[in-house]
Amino acid sequence: MIELKYITKSYNMGGEVIYALKNINLKIKEREFVAIMGPSGSGKSTLLNIIGCLDRPDHGEIYIDGIKIKDLNDDELTGIRRDKIGFVFQQFNLIPLLNALENVEIPLIFKYRNTLSERERRNRAIECLRMAELNEKFANHYPNQLSGGQQQRVSIARALANNPPILLCDEPTGSLDSKTGKRILELLKKLNNNGKTVVIVTHDPSVAEYAHRVIHLRDGVISSISSIDKKV
Ligand SMILES: Nc1ncnc2c1ncn2[C@@H]1O[C@H](COP(=O)(O)OP(=O)(O)O)[C@@H](O)[C@H]1O
Ligand SMILES: [Mg+2]
Repeated sequence: MIELKYITKSYNMGGEVIYALKNINLKIKEREFVAIMGPSGSGKSTLLNIIGCLDRPDHGEIYIDGIKIKDLNDDELTGIRRDKIGFVFQQFNLIPLLNALENVEIPLIFKYRNTLSERERRNRAIECLRMAELNEKFANHYPNQLSGGQQQRVSIARALANNPPILLCDEPTGSLDSKTGKRILELLKKLNNNGKTVVIVTHDPSVAEYAHRVIHLRDGVISSISSIDKKV
């Protein structure tokens, strides 16, 4: 489903070159739940952004669903990001002037402007909020009227909108208390059980209960991979 070959990414910081990722090789299977852990600055977000085609590596190849990302033009890349990948961030990144339902509708408007009616888009957004287990009564609430856990459910619903096979989550529980964070991990596990491939960056050691594998990053390299004895 996802394959990285010899991925290197550096940043030029005022003349000094910093290697965020060095020669990363990694294969992630369809329906796998993979956790990426490591200290701050070890390259976790860079790795996730490269998997999500938000960022391009200096060297190396990425394949998503067998498609070689390097060969794509900007339009094709936008299509991959839209159709194959849902992103979930620590800070939810919801649009404050839109209510929960409208936030989930945004990706649907981009993709289905000409093919789905407003009503069909609305129904799909409601379905996604339901999959993210947000009580329907919150659909017309604005982000600032929702708790952190509820906002993260809205952002997960938005990530599900275009039904992508892959969910990439960058510290999705990092702004939540541990009990709420556990509920979000349980939701991600449920989505994984229902067929999504999940890659999650986290500091939460309890993620090992949910993940098939934990990848440990250190200074831009994979320092170890622990496989947890669960079948995909
Ligand atoms: N846009 C950027 N410009 C310059 N340096 C960056 C940029 N993004 C990340 N880095 C550097 O790359 C390294 C890895 O960063 P990051 O992937 O954000 O780590 P993590 O998510 O594990 O905290 C760090 O040294 C960071 O300072
Ligand atoms: Mg990060």
